[in-house]
Amino acid sequence: MKNFKDSFADVLFEALDGHLDKQKISLMIEKPKFEHMGDLAFPCFELAKILRKSPQGIAADLAGKNGSPFFEKIEAAGGYVNAFLEKGIVTASVIRQVLTEKEAYGDANLGNGQAITIDLSSPNIAKPFSMGHLRSTVIGNALALISEKCGYRAIRINHLGDWGTQFGKLIVAYKLWGNEEKVKQQPIKELLKLYVQFHEEAEANPELEDMGRQWFKKLEDEDGGALSLWKWFREESLKEFSKIYDLLGIRFDSTNGEAFYNDKMDRVVELLKEKKLLIESDGAQVVQLEDLPPCLIKKKDGTTLYATRDLAAAIYRHETYGSVQSLYVVGNEQSLHFKQLFSVLEKMGFTCAGGLVHIPFGMMLKDGKKMSTRKGKVVLLEEVLHEAISLALEDILKKNPDLPAKEKVARQVGTGAVIFHDLKNFRMNDIEFSLEDMLRFEGETGPYVQYTHARAASLLRKGKFAGSSGDIQLEDPEAWPVVTALMAFPEAVKRAFAEYDPSQIAKYVIELSRAFNKYYASVRFLEESSQKQARLSLAYSVTIVLKEGLRLLGIEAPKEM
Ligand code: ARG
Repeated sequence: MKNFKDSFADVLFEALDGHLDKQKISLMIEKPKFEHMGDLAFPCFELAKILRKSPQGIAADLAGKNGSPFFEKIEAAGGYVNAFLEKGIVTASVIRQVLTEKEAYGDANLGNGQAITIDLSSPNIAKPFSMGHLRSTVIGNALALISEKCGYRAIRINHLGDWGTQFGKLIVAYKLWGNEEKVKQQPIKELLKLYVQFHEEAEANPELEDMGRQWFKKLEDEDGGALSLWKWFREESLKEFSKIYDLLGIRFDSTNGEAFYNDKMDRVVELLKEKKLLIESDGAQVVQLEDLPPCLIKKKDGTTLYATRDLAAAIYRHETYGSVQSLYVVGNEQSLHFKQLFSVLEKMGFTCAGGLVHIPFGMMLKDGKKMSTRKGKVVLLEEVLHEAISLALEDILKKNPDLPAKEKVARQVGTGAVIFHDLKNFRMNDIEFSLEDMLRFEGETGPYVQYTHARAASLLRKGKFAGSSGDIQLEDPEAWPVVTALMAFPEAVKRAFAEYDPSQIAKYVIELSRAFNKYYASVRFLEESSQKQARLSLAYSVTIVLKEGLRLLGIEAPKEM
């Protein structure tokens, strides 16, 4: 991997005669604020203290010593050494590297194949798939792809909300008012209706609550036919969720939900007892925490809780996958839960505790208000995705009616638009939901990036580009911003991973698209000239990196659209 920062560090290291080590130098190198200050800058202020010389003097000394072919000149300016890349050589070297490495360009081997578990999506069965779950799905999947790019083995876990007192209530409601046919036809809608009815009737008839608790107890004891009803609810719900996952092209390594841990919680309780962490409070079992409210482990009636299942799950994941990091992509409103969870695990002496990370995100808003799934007022996500897809199809029919595989491309563009809209901002920001904004072809949208990719791909077809061999000599000055953008990809990948922030990649592909479109407007790619092959080589590099960048976000890049 050619990294020009390293080349500059090499030059400086030689010139500094061992006064600073190479890694330290590399960390100090910055990007200058203005273009006329070159491509890389090294500040000499710290060195001035060590050498007891003026920063200006040191910079002037260092500037004279350029032994690298990659730098056109190295200059002193103020207390800085500014390096200017030799554009011709660098351009050729970057394009050659992308063309050779193809989609492996930007791979970083940080992980050495170690496992990272990623808890993502995790909707609750018998309830609609919410916008929050979509955010978790999309962010989690991107983080999985980015960590794979960084050399980790990502394990995607869909921790379904399929256990808890609410299923006791649902069983009661179904037994009292349910209808098998109706549930089969529209499982989620019908089950949600029953659940809502339960709460309405329970206000007048508190006995229902008791029945609900009893049925959950039966469920936990695997008794009285409760389990087979529950299994059915779960299967029907999963069928519905799969439609969304299929549209988005998302697969999981495990769909072990909360129920999976039912027989693994006794051990957790035993461990907590052994470590003398469990105390009784009002008949319930809790773990006391220093700066947080106590974590409830078992209720009075002996049933377990969300937190108990998460404790069992964390231990199970660590033991099963040997994961070095365990990420939980879950809305911000569950921050306290995860703080308590991690803190209990730490008290238990759980060694992976340092690798446990809650990855919160903001809300999806509609007209500035939270999109709600309660009280039957549901935004059906599947419908949202289908609408995006049909809008994309409409657009294709208008602009490119002869396009082959229109339906497929419409799906790629429609879902790509929804995903990109989610990932383009830092995840903690709230997002205003707007199909119109998502599907625009200009500005910071998925379709804009996909369109840029398709445009470059079409140049390659029309120009009958058959790969490039030999020297690449690209002389267009307008190509330089494209080259520097290509160069920045590996850093963007690493940053996105280090900060668990897919928006770094989204912003990156926007920048590369902008640079390329500007260049596209300034030259005639298809004109026969000595530059044609070199120009097309650059266009090809752009298609490779845009496609790979989109892939890391979970978005496909059609060749034509
Ligand atoms: N099912 C939960 C919800 O919808 C999210 C589960 C998140 N993952 C976890 N391990 N707690 O709120």
